Amino acid sequence: MKIEKAKTSRKGSINYSNLGFGKYFSDHMLILDYKNKTWEEPKIVPYQPMSIEPANITLHYGQCVFEGQKAFMGIDGKVRLFRLDSHYRRLVNSSRRMFIPEVPEDVYKEAVKRLVDLDRDLIPTEWGTSLYLRPFIIAMDNTLGLKVSETYRLMVITSPVASYYEEGLNPIRIEVNTQFSRVVKGGLGEVKAAANYAASLYATQTAKQRGFPQVLWLDGKEHKYVDEVGTMNIMFVIDGTLITPSLDEGTILPGITRDSVLKIAREWGWPVEERRIAFNEVVDAYKRGVLEEVFGTGTAAIISPVGELHYEGEAMVVNDRKIGPKSQKLYDTITGIQYGKLDDKFGWLT
Ligand code: COI
Repeated sequence: MKIEKAKTSRKGSINYSNLGFGKYFSDHMLILDYKNKTWEEPKIVPYQPMSIEPANITLHYGQCVFEGQKAFMGIDGKVRLFRLDSHYRRLVNSSRRMFIPEVPEDVYKEAVKRLVDLDRDLIPTEWGTSLYLRPFIIAMDNTLGLKVSETYRLMVITSPVASYYEEGLNPIRIEVNTQFSRVVKGGLGEVKAAANYAASLYATQTAKQRGFPQVLWLDGKEHKYVDEVGTMNIMFVIDGTLITPSLDEGTILPGITRDSVLKIAREWGWPVEERRIAFNEVVDAYKRGVLEEVFGTGTAAIISPVGELHYEGEAMVVNDRKIGPKSQKLYDTITGIQYGKLDDKFGWLT
């Protein structure tokens, strides 16, 4: 692997007391090019702009995928990458769906570890902060003809981050969207394609203008079943049972935090259901007084409690707009594992 070290560090320009999310970038980035049907040797170089032709096919047709994963500075000073395997596997699944060649596992994992190691001094240390890794693959052919590209570039950039939402763990207001669709069955919902996020922007921005930071997405066909919340998977606690939409329809991203929550909850013996959830069922649970907690799960925010669900002009207030006990316990457990405070009994850390 070729490594060109940065001559000066960007660390001094990073405001560690107000990191926000994705505003600052670390000193180095990883580049892995695919040409002549092979992935070339990875390079780590100083973080810098790159030049691409205006005819770059990704700019026009969006043949690209990404990941989001995190490294944590542990309470013992060790750096831990969370679920490197699962993120690699999902990157490969997303690539297949977008006809992007598979990145070799050993090359990818080794390069990611080297990159994080090089920038370990930039990892923030406070609880709730981390180094967010953004691996992404873009098509690199230059043409205006719509086709599968023959050349690609995988890059990993990293960013010292705090909470994804300004609200942090404070419950947010959500508007249930019955007009737009983010994905449909047979579409790209189950992979991390940039296109899914572009498709979410109009509805999300107009909801923001009405005072809702995020929307709840219902299925693209009937707007009847629950899909996701904002950019996250959604979970409900109804009468003591943790319920989340199943992955069977292919419209939901197989979230790695979703999977972590389900594994932990099952290990604790909580009743857990993965199945289709009609939104009416949520309304009914609310009316019966058994809609106990609602929260999103995702790598960026980990757990994001929902304080209010607005549906057809009516507000359903969840747990008095406070974080619920199950959401809090899951957050404490996942972060406890990530910062090395709790035992890594599932083998999630590298
Ligand atoms: C996440 O919730 O982890 C995501 O991948 C969303 C992304 C827009 C930061």
